[in-house]
Amino acid sequence: MYDAIELAEAKNALAGSIAWRSPSNIALVKYWGKYGRQLPSNPSVSFTLKNAHTNMRMTYKEGTGNVVLFFEEKRNEAFEGRMAKFMKSIADVYPFLQSLDFQIHSDNSFPHSAGIASSASAMSALCLCLCSIEQQIFGSLQDADEFLQKASYLSRLASGSACRSVYPKLGQWGIHDKIKRSTNQYAVDVSGEVDPVFHTFKNSILIASAKEKSVSSSAGHQLMENNSYAPVRFKQANDNLEKLMVAMKKGDLTTFIEIVEEEALTLHALMMTSTPSYVLMKPNSLELIERVRSFRSKTGLPVCFTLDAGPNLHVLYPANIANEVQAFIQEECKPFCENGLIIEDEVGEGAFLLNS
Ligand code: PMV
Repeated sequence: MYDAIELAEAKNALAGSIAWRSPSNIALVKYWGKYGRQLPSNPSVSFTLKNAHTNMRMTYKEGTGNVVLFFEEKRNEAFEGRMAKFMKSIADVYPFLQSLDFQIHSDNSFPHSAGIASSASAMSALCLCLCSIEQQIFGSLQDADEFLQKASYLSRLASGSACRSVYPKLGQWGIHDKIKRSTNQYAVDVSGEVDPVFHTFKNSILIASAKEKSVSSSAGHQLMENNSYAPVRFKQANDNLEKLMVAMKKGDLTTFIEIVEEEALTLHALMMTSTPSYVLMKPNSLELIERVRSFRSKTGLPVCFTLDAGPNLHVLYPANIANEVQAFIQEECKPFCENGLIIEDEVGEGAFLLNS
């Protein structure tokens, strides 16, 4: 499909440009462990973020698969190599990419040091651009749902959890027998299956440490292959996803908080019980966890935390308590953040097309 011969026959010009904005996401039930061609060992679900996003502009013309990439206005050969390698690796899906040359300009709205999943936003932005190029050249992917599904599928091949980023509010990825449409191949939009309170959620990111992660997520996934707790974990993730979706449908914030925090701490427990083992939290991460929990028990407000595979806390809460929670964060959490750094984000509407 879409090979060089078809390309030569394509009616439209073999040159053009396209631009997409795509956000990062934060998992509520975590994907940790994979097999085969980027297939998840367990299903996951995430909030799509709003402020943390990548803007990517891409121009293309006839060529031989060359990629030139500027990241934040500077040529970035490492990132360029990663993009080119990925574009070659999907030659079975998009052989025509090897008959084009690309120039890419990519910018992130968030600092590199924040530990926000930049590969989720960047790789999903790339895949959305590639789907638009398919659409421009071949006239296919006219249906909006089909377009996002293909972008999600390609994003999964590029960077696993990136596949959840293209959808508004809540993306679910990985087969689960109680979730209709769920599949390991791409993520699906489950935003319509939850109480609207979850569409209003805020995410304040408390930067406990701005240092680079000590283990990459691909190395982390690999460690699950020999982790003795892996089978129990995969079952737990399936159970937690089912319980979480029921709780979110009912607007049950108590169960939501219980599962989300358990998932965050389980992810870190898995790293601590891998061989070799890693402690990804810092003393300030623990201090911040204690503070969030004691604020919750003192006030009874529905605020909780989650963690990525790093030391920073993602504090989650509905918009109607934002004033109280943000005042607490400024007074009681900021002193434990590196250089007082806090990044404010919230649930967002997914990816969208920019003027190219
Ligand atoms: O998509 P990857 O390979 O960067 O892995 C992401 C793993 C976590 O962020 C820790 C969890 C998740 O589901 O996003």
